[in-house]
Amino acid sequence: MTANKKLLMLPGDGIGPEVMAVVARVIEWFGKRRQISFDVEEGLIGGASYDAHGTPLSDGTLEQAMAADAVLLGAVGGPKWDDLEFSLKPERGLLKIRKEMGLFANLRPAVVFPALAEASTLKTEIVSGLDIMIVRELTGGIYFGEPRGIEDLGNGERRGFNTLVYTTSEIRRVGRVAFELAQKRDRRLCSVDKANVMESTVLWREEMIKLGAEEYPDVELSHLYVDNAAMQLVRDPKQFDVMVTTNMFGDILSDCAAMLTGSLGMLPSASLGAEKDGRIPALYEPVHGSAPDIAGKDMANPLATLSSFSMMLRYSFDLQAEADLVDQAVTNILAGGMRTADIMQPGKAKVSTSVLSDAIIGELDKLSA
Ligand code: IPM
Ligand code: MG
Repeated sequence: MTANKKLLMLPGDGIGPEVMAVVARVIEWFGKRRQISFDVEEGLIGGASYDAHGTPLSDGTLEQAMAADAVLLGAVGGPKWDDLEFSLKPERGLLKIRKEMGLFANLRPAVVFPALAEASTLKTEIVSGLDIMIVRELTGGIYFGEPRGIEDLGNGERRGFNTLVYTTSEIRRVGRVAFELAQKRDRRLCSVDKANVMESTVLWREEMIKLGAEEYPDVELSHLYVDNAAMQLVRDPKQFDVMVTTNMFGDILSDCAAMLTGSLGMLPSASLGAEKDGRIPALYEPVHGSAPDIAGKDMANPLATLSSFSMMLRYSFDLQAEADLVDQAVTNILAGGMRTADIMQPGKAKVSTSVLSDAIIGELDKLSA
């Protein structure tokens, strides 16, 4: 048994704990059947952390995260915490852990499983075979720029403001991640900005061009304004290989890309930082939210979280065969016709989270028999 892979699980709120429980079963399976064990800790984030500690991310949890080799997160937020002061909202916990861990590169692959091509709201031929990677800058831009706030102007008028700011080094480090991914794929990178309107992204485009010319001449670099990129994503998504963009544009475009795959419940993500002492800080999470409307009803789709776990096996632990095994189990389950409500199609079997979870374990058994 090789232990010492330190994994912190942060289930969070809403459906977070339910989808995370499925991964916990898979981890247990790996320990029993493949002699791969993880040193697993659990912690609180989001509303769950607020309820316990009065803050959406405690220093203790942050320390645990910093000490872990990888963090797996469920989802945060829900109506219960809607009225909290801004700095205490569940989402602030997520933004804080990304920032404190320095997770500047967010990888959001949008892959259409053959069995799900018809579940997309787009025509099957537009999405079937789709395999794109969106790289979203995650610790800068308008999400974190200063000054920010809401101020009283007197006379009954208030002013809300945020700042979109990027420095060359922030642009280049996320650019490198995107170029390197493109090198391992189809060697095409599309950088998305709004350089026709905003100076911050004029700089973004200039730096991407320089970086490409200096370090990645083998990658074909193109540029789109974000409005056009959104349109192209639904018009002809297969034209893309890797896309790289700012924090907020990436937030928006990745939800859009998720729907190409049939459901937001299918999209995993990896957030990576800069290597330090031989380790890359990493957090994995599904792109979907906490879905409070279906929380606790045994209806949630755990596949995005499971695929996030598979990304963890791949990127943080270099367990390629194990990641392939998880991915294959997901593919087979879908091909077999089981569907959670969010990806239900005519003629398929609608199942609960727990039935799907049993089926995944059964499939893993079968695949490794
Ligand atoms: C995401 C989410 C978060 C974001 C929210 C919950 C803060 O939408 O991960 O895409 O905007 O980054
Ligand atoms: Mg989002």
